[in-house]
Amino acid sequence: MGERDALHLKNLPRHVAIIMDGNGRWAQGKGLPRTMGHKKGMDSIREIVTISSNYGIKGLTLYAFSTENWRRPREEVDFLMSLPRIYLKKELPQLMRNNVKLYFSGRLHGLPPEIQDILREAASATENNKGLFLNIAINYGGRAEITDAAAKIAQLVREEKLEPGDITEDIVAAHMYTANLGDPDLLIRTGGEARLSNFLLWQAAYAELYFTPVLWPDFGKEEYDRALFAYSSRERRFGQLSRELGD
Ligand code: IPE
Ligand code: IPE
Ligand code: MG
Repeated sequence: MGERDALHLKNLPRHVAIIMDGNGRWAQGKGLPRTMGHKKGMDSIREIVTISSNYGIKGLTLYAFSTENWRRPREEVDFLMSLPRIYLKKELPQLMRNNVKLYFSGRLHGLPPEIQDILREAASATENNKGLFLNIAINYGGRAEITDAAAKIAQLVREEKLEPGDITEDIVAAHMYTANLGDPDLLIRTGGEARLSNFLLWQAAYAELYFTPVLWPDFGKEEYDRALFAYSSRERRFGQLSRELGD
């Protein structure tokens, strides 16, 4: 990409979502324990958050821990659970300087209580910031999210606040964790796999998908710009015919 960067692109995505995959393989490839890949992955988070802020991207959703990741060995899960504290302690001042508003989505009540406290404090410290909306998906599962939305809507019906026949897509969307953020325009997955792994199943309906073999700890400005350039050249049709779009 040389001197150029994606800042001057006409159509930058409004909301970018990233499946940050490949930390374990990055470490294993260097003969290190997998946890060192997760640690290094935090540097990529810092860089991508800063660039997104500088580019004026409105929302960034990062998949940090899935509802399925509890199936990993205990030591790895414990290490991953220690990262929010480390990340926020180190990064919160910079996030404040960059006017970033933090938000956490997922089954937060399923996290250890001390982590819930840390996340709540960080979110409230940044709640008046008006810059990048940084949504960290933690203990997140797309099916869990849709299931939770169904339960909330069922409750409204039981309370006679809503008729089943009045349930629209907008009402379902309003009960998703991302109700205040909207759908991602661009969904990036690092680490070479071409699957969603239960990420944003509802919201990604019309996202442009971008898969790269680059492992998350190696994902920096050059690769991010590449993804943003690719996005800028895609034509989003939303079911219409190509020629109808310009009309
Ligand atoms: C992504 O990296 C981080 C989390 C899932 C928490 P992985 O740990 O999945 O790395 P690989 O895919 O095993 O290389
Ligand atoms: C997806 O990566 C979850 C996160 C990046 C947090 P995984 O490594 O858990 O996905 P699978 O297991 O390869 O599908
Ligand atoms: Mg993985």
